[in-house]
Amino acid sequence: MELQGHEFYRFMAPRLTLLVSTCDKEGNPNAAPFSFVMPVSINPPLAAISAAHKRHTLANIRETGQFVLNLPIESIIEKLHVCSDPFDKGVNEIKEAGLTEMKSVVVKPPRVEECAAWFECELEWEKEAGDHVIVIGKIVKAEVKDEFMKDGAFDLAGAKPLLHVTGTNFALAERIVHVHR
Ligand SMILES: Cc1cc2nc3c(=O)[nH]c(=O)nc-3n(C[C@H](O)[C@H](O)[C@H](O)COP(=O)(O)O)c2cc1C
Repeated sequence: MELQGHEFYRFMAPRLTLLVSTCDKEGNPNAAPFSFVMPVSINPPLAAISAAHKRHTLANIRETGQFVLNLPIESIIEKLHVCSDPFDKGVNEIKEAGLTEMKSVVVKPPRVEECAAWFECELEWEKEAGDHVIVIGKIVKAEVKDEFMKDGAFDLAGAKPLLHVTGTNFALAERIVHVHR
């Protein structure tokens, strides 16, 4: 079956979903789920998100140069989705969704407490890419909840990070398969 070009990303799924928290220059917090995300460099530690032009997340990153990549887990799936509703700029989605703000260590935007891990970022650069803008952040502080570490690795089965399929559909990553060779 032939596809329309713009449908490609539905097949590059499921995609790891992060909750990106920011604040505007007045300090009003904002949070939105993003699944166009990827690690881009280990040393220095850089990560990318891709934001549609009109996202408040993008406007806030431009205002403050900072953001936090929060790693959400299955237990907050409904609340995460509330954060994708089209609230007005300045509305605190963390509060609207019934999630909890937590002070970041280095950056001004808050962490979302219910998430499994937090990556505090300083804006490195941005580049327009079609109808989105790629934003690269340098991770200046990284932390994972101890309860989600097992035998020195991230406990996928315990955390159940959310993988976006489409719309309100998500897949869970809770099992590791091994290559035998
Ligand atoms: C699971 C999920 C993943 C999403 N991923 C992205 C994304 O990668 N980039 C984007 O621009 N919007 C994405 N969105 C849409 C935004 O989360 C949504 O438009 C949100 O209201 C934007 O909030 P903001 O304007 O406060 O930034 C996604 C939505 C959902 C539910």
